[in-house]
Amino acid sequence: MLFNKQHWAVIKLLVFTLSLLPFFELFFAGIDDQLGANPIETLHFGFGDWALRFLCIGLALTPIKIITGQSWPVRFRRMMGLFAFFYASLHLLVYVVLDLSLSWTAFIDEVPKSPYILAGLVTYLLLLPLALTSTKSMQKRFGRYWLVLHRSVYAAAITALVHYFWLVKKDYTQPLIYAVVVTMLLTVRAFNIYQKQISSVKAKSPKLGQKKTTNKISR
Ligand code: HEM
Repeated sequence: MLFNKQHWAVIKLLVFTLSLLPFFELFFAGIDDQLGANPIETLHFGFGDWALRFLCIGLALTPIKIITGQSWPVRFRRMMGLFAFFYASLHLLVYVVLDLSLSWTAFIDEVPKSPYILAGLVTYLLLLPLALTSTKSMQKRFGRYWLVLHRSVYAAAITALVHYFWLVKKDYTQPLIYAVVVTMLLTVRAFNIYQKQISSVKAKSPKLGQKKTTNKISR
C-alpha cells in the first residue's frame, strides 16, 4: 500500500476543502454583489448544478474501481454523496427562502405549474435517507438492508435527470451531457453485477454437477 492512514486523512481533508470551493465561490460572490443581474437565480442554479455534479462524481467512483481494479476511489463515496446532499439542500433552501420567501403555499401552488419541482422533490427525498444513514454506525445497524437502501442513489440520479430535462425549455445540451454520463456509469455497474452473477452461477454449477452424480450413485 502506497499511502498510510495519515496520508489518507490529509488527502480526504484536501478533497473536502476542494468540494467546499464552489460554496465559498458563490457565497463570496454574493457578499461582493458579483452574482449578476439575477443573484437568486445564479445561487439557485449554481447549487443545483453542483448537487448534480457531486451525485455524478459519487456514482463514478465504483465504476472507476471496477475499471482500474483500484479500491481507493470508494473511500470518497460517502463524502461525495454528502456533498451532493449539501448542495441539493442549499439549492432547495435558496428556492424556498429567497425565491418563495418561505411561503409553503407558494411552494405547493408552484408544483402543478412547474411539475419538474416534483421530480426535484423526489430526488431530494431519495437523497435524504442516504445522508441520514451514511455513518458507519448506521451501516452496522442496518446490516445488509443498508446496501439495498443505498442503491436508491441510482433512482436519485435518474429523477435528478428528469428534473433537469423537464425544467429546460430550449437548449438540452447540458442535461443531455449528464444523461450520457449517468447512462455510461449505470451501464458499467449493471454489466459488473451481471458478470458477478454469471461467475457465481459458474462457481456453483460444478457443485450442482457433483450433487447430481452423488444422487445417481446413492440410488
Ligand atoms: C425539493 C427539491 C428541489 C426543488 C424545489 C428544485 C427546484 C428547482 C427550480 C425551481 C429550478 C429552476 C428552474 C428554472 O427556473 O428554469 C431548478 C433547477 C435545477 N435543479 Fe432543482 N430543485 C430541487 C432539487 C434538486 C436536486 C436534488 C438536484 C440535483 C441533485 C437539482 C438540480 C437542479 C439543476 C441541475 C437545475 C438547473 C440549473 C441550471 O440550469 O444551471 N434540483 N431546481
